[in-house]
Amino acid sequence: MRKVILDVDTGIDDALGIILAAKSGEFDLVGITTVNGNVSLAKATENTCKILDLLQIGGQVPVVPGASQPLLRPMFFEHRVHGEDGLGGALRDTTVVTQPAKGFGPDFIVENVLAQPGQITLIMTGPLTNLALAVRKCPQLVHHVKEVVFMGGVVREHGNVTPTAEYNMFVDPEAAKVVFHAGFPELTLVGLDVTRKVLLNEDHIRELGDTPIGRYVKQSTADYLQRYFERNGVRACAMHDPLAVAVALDRDLVTTQKLYVDVETRSDLCDGQTVCDFQNRLGMEPNMNVCLAVDDEAFFERFIRALKA
Ligand code: BDR
Ligand code: CA
Repeated sequence: MRKVILDVDTGIDDALGIILAAKSGEFDLVGITTVNGNVSLAKATENTCKILDLLQIGGQVPVVPGASQPLLRPMFFEHRVHGEDGLGGALRDTTVVTQPAKGFGPDFIVENVLAQPGQITLIMTGPLTNLALAVRKCPQLVHHVKEVVFMGGVVREHGNVTPTAEYNMFVDPEAAKVVFHAGFPELTLVGLDVTRKVLLNEDHIRELGDTPIGRYVKQSTADYLQRYFERNGVRACAMHDPLAVAVALDRDLVTTQKLYVDVETRSDLCDGQTVCDFQNRLGMEPNMNVCLAVDDEAFFERFIRALKA
């Protein structure tokens, strides 16, 4: 089984990514590191522990808290989307049983990757702060990771925080810059261009059935679906983070192109914008695989099968 570390800022879609990763049966989850982002580090960590309780795998997968703030910038929570608690109100009144492990997320990444060179896939679904800190601590890390798949950025369409910036990039663009230029041989950007095309709707939720996971998904996505409806006239919500997990599971779900991508860090208007050099105007070597198209039906076939397993 593929060894995986997930790095999450557990909001609604991170939680669905964790559930997909755990229920796929195809990953050996080495650990989950948490990061400040959608909610505070403490909430992201608690939400992650609640999801492991739901999955009944608490204690089997260490949850290791990482960075409590971006490298240089103030925190910028996303309560608009994920609610005050980060899980859209689901599991609000449950008592958490799983406790976080000791240690610091970036150190956990470095130690585990170096202990199992070439074995570990990193799936990042929050701001890239933990991975930037790991790379700074150990620059040779890049040669020992199997691959990195991250949800972040947008290369052809508009942003979701500012007109040009996607949330994970906007929150910590300096961290994204460190990661983009670190020299990872296999780095894959799963951005809004594809994640916005993967829309969970009420039919999908019904298909999950009346099970603890089905009920959880229904509850946690209710407000999310409503907000999307108010903006777009359709009751659905984008599976940003689960798609990053799914791309790590099955690369054939997406069409990718190797391209050079950088991120803006010095503009009042465009900080966090991912700039993709489609025509090689900058003459730089490609530094990542960029997802440009997705088979959303194949995604949902896999997602629903895994969650019902
Ligand atoms: C990303 O932003 C966060 O709010 C989501 O969890 C996802 O990782 C989408 O832009
Ligand atoms: Ca996230």
